[in-house]
Amino acid sequence: MAGHAPSSSAAAGFPVLRWFFSSLGKKTVVAVTGLVLVGFVTGHLLGNLTFFFGPDAMNTYAMKLQALGPLLWVVRIGLLVAVGLHIVFTMLLWKENQAATPQKYAVKAPMKTTIFARTMRLTGLIVLAFVAFHLAHFTLWLVNPAFAGYQTLLNGHEVHDVYRMVVVGFQNPFVSGFYILSLALVAFHLSHGVASLFQTLGLTNQTLRPKFEFLARIFAWTLFVGYSAIPVSILFYG
Ligand code: HEM
Repeated sequence: MAGHAPSSSAAAGFPVLRWFFSSLGKKTVVAVTGLVLVGFVTGHLLGNLTFFFGPDAMNTYAMKLQALGPLLWVVRIGLLVAVGLHIVFTMLLWKENQAATPQKYAVKAPMKTTIFARTMRLTGLIVLAFVAFHLAHFTLWLVNPAFAGYQTLLNGHEVHDVYRMVVVGFQNPFVSGFYILSLALVAFHLSHGVASLFQTLGLTNQTLRPKFEFLARIFAWTLFVGYSAIPVSILFYG
């Protein structure tokens, strides 16, 4: 049965590895890493909303994050591992589904899925490209090297002026437009992803599924509104 065949012969002798490479194992890895990433985007939004409380609030938040030191690196490496596993196991599942699908129907029957479900791989790839740009923009300062020199005084200490960096970054309408478009695709991805991960983790059933789908959409588009409020307010009032 395709669903239980280990992907590598090396896994055959190890029950735990065999489980990881079974259909259920792969889906669970995608769901658990997805949950970790959902946790991150929720926390990151709450942190970013300090923007609306002014420069000191946002810079204090950024400074506290930096002050975590080695712990911040543990979180960063954990996130990177989650992203890597999420992508690799999605690709393994896709390969497995391709192998299990009978070749070329004479008439292609339209599938009863939503646009959110059908575009998961595409939106996932675009979100990945967005995150790469975002890191180059606000973390590595490659897009605008002047960001590196933005400093401000906070309680007598010189700190990086993250607030000014965000304002200057989003005053560019092309950058803001690109972010808003990418954030909409993040919401597209989460609209289906969040409902699916609950299903995979066995937290829902066929009857509850429509309710979870609805809640997942509300959640995804709430994130979109929260994140987009920052570039939109800078474009109009900044
Ligand atoms: C309007 C939307 C967003 C704003 C204003 C924003 C703002 C920021 C800022 C200012 C930083 C650098 C923090 C610092 O220098 O201390 C950052 C880092 C980061 N952001 Fe965002 N962000 C947004 C959306 C997103 C989204 C949607 C994702 C993920 C899908 C994301 C993922 C990340 C990651 C992975 C980092 C690196 C964290 C680290 O270095 O530890 N951001 N963001």
